Amino acid sequence: MTMMVLEKVKTIKTLNNIAETGLDVLRENYLLDDENENPDAIIVRSFNMHAIEPGNNLKAIARAGAGVNNIPVEQYTEQGIVVFNTPGANANAVKELVLTSLMASSRNLFAGVAWTRELEGQDQQISKLVETGKKQFVGKEIRGKTLGVIGLGAIGALVANDALGLGMDVIGFDPFISVDTAWNLSRNVQRAGTIEQLFANADYITVHVPLTDDTVGMFNEKTFGIMKPDVHILNFSRGGLVDEKAMKIALESGQVGKYITDFPNENVLKMKNAVSFPHLGASTIESEENCAKMAARQVKEFLETGNIQNS
Ligand code: MLT
Repeated sequence: MTMMVLEKVKTIKTLNNIAETGLDVLRENYLLDDENENPDAIIVRSFNMHAIEPGNNLKAIARAGAGVNNIPVEQYTEQGIVVFNTPGANANAVKELVLTSLMASSRNLFAGVAWTRELEGQDQQISKLVETGKKQFVGKEIRGKTLGVIGLGAIGALVANDALGLGMDVIGFDPFISVDTAWNLSRNVQRAGTIEQLFANADYITVHVPLTDDTVGMFNEKTFGIMKPDVHILNFSRGGLVDEKAMKIALESGQVGKYITDFPNENVLKMKNAVSFPHLGASTIESEENCAKMAARQVKEFLETGNIQNS
């Protein structure tokens, strides 16, 4: 009698908000089970993996996103668990929100909308009050202004290139890769030799670097001091890049004119010239699907062939 050895079906667990439509590639050969405590692979978005011990079946974890701060990468690597991320898969979504916010804050839209919501009365009174708002919220055009882009990877390069199209002058700086090798960067993006040069010359600054020991708190009292007064700063990367107490002081003094952050923090949450979003940068239908698809492909490829493809 011949005995058939049935191979155990591998289980993949998804943790928080992974787009179902991106997981189709896994459905045929894998069990997708969110309850399983000891899966072969995990696809995760923001869940804090530092808080739990990996099961002994775990072979791979894929972050459906660029940053991997929520995964203990060193520990997992030592344990032989492969860690993937999905660089570039959400870049367009983040870029669109950065440029939307840049223009909206420059035109005082966030404050203007909040002010208009408080209006009460009949149409005639409202029309009179509108005249006050019109004076109060005079904005600035971005055309001809200088945008400093720190970090010229997938997201930073898209922001830099599209800002040129909006008529801005763009200076780029990347602390990790040489600007010449930066991803698809337009030749019209000027290269800052040092980050201080970028700080000193930009009217608007947007940051697109990971949070590391080298970048933590890179926006602080000292660096605010180098910047042009009334500079607008956009942070769609990680909250820890900014010393938020120093930011509060800089916003109070007007050294920083506006701060747009995707990482709400109690120091600046209620400040008039700060706007906080609930980590919306990558939150679009398209980006969530792209990230899930890329993560699913990476996991499938690894479980089936042992190949590690982080793209
Ligand atoms: C990222 O690191 O790419 C973002 O945090 C993605 C997300 O919003 O989950």
